[in-house]
Amino acid sequence: MVSGMFLASFKATYDFPLAHTDEEVRGWIRDDLIPAKETWVAVDGVGAVIGVMALDGDDLAQLYIAPGWTGRGIGSRFVELAKRLRPTGLSLFTFQVNRGARRFYERHGFIVVDENDGARNEERQPDVRYEWCPEARRA
Ligand SMILES: CC(C)(COP(=O)(O)OP(=O)(O)OC[C@H]1O[C@@H](n2cnc3c(N)ncnc32)[C@H](O)[C@@H]1OP(=O)(O)O)[C@@H](O)C(=O)NCCC(=O)NCCS
Repeated sequence: MVSGMFLASFKATYDFPLAHTDEEVRGWIRDDLIPAKETWVAVDGVGAVIGVMALDGDDLAQLYIAPGWTGRGIGSRFVELAKRLRPTGLSLFTFQVNRGARRFYERHGFIVVDENDGARNEERQPDVRYEWCPEARRA
């Protein structure tokens, strides 16, 4: 259920393909993301997965909300949870083209720390790294 939601969200957001096949993505989610990372899901009233967030150390490694469920505050609740779980700070990557996600992260206090032409990600798309540091630490 996480895999289907992740694939639908990615494909609704980006016009370039994932670097891996759907089957490979399902295997990665089953064998790595769920057992080995700190992964949280949001479900609707009948238990269908409508959002996923994964923390990997201090990285907010994955955050995807199902198409049809965006813009309702679920992503914000995940980010607030991540900040509570990692009170010393967080970092994340997103693709530069994802204007909506960038606006969202910036509203939540993340700042750009570097940009890359895509050589460091599998999709070979320009990306941007963000960090959030709590005020007390930044001062
Ligand atoms: C980006 C995302 C995680 C934000 O979660 P969310 O639950 O939609 O966000 P919230 O409801 O808490 O906040 C809404 C804000 O999110 C941003 N946003 C980004 N993509 C959006 C979308 N497809 N629909 C609505 N809002 C979106 C906007 O900044 C919006 O604020 P606005 O109404 O002023 O434009 C979510 O929209 C999503 O999963 N999008 C598709 C996949 C994606 O881009 N994941 C991030 C990869 S790094």
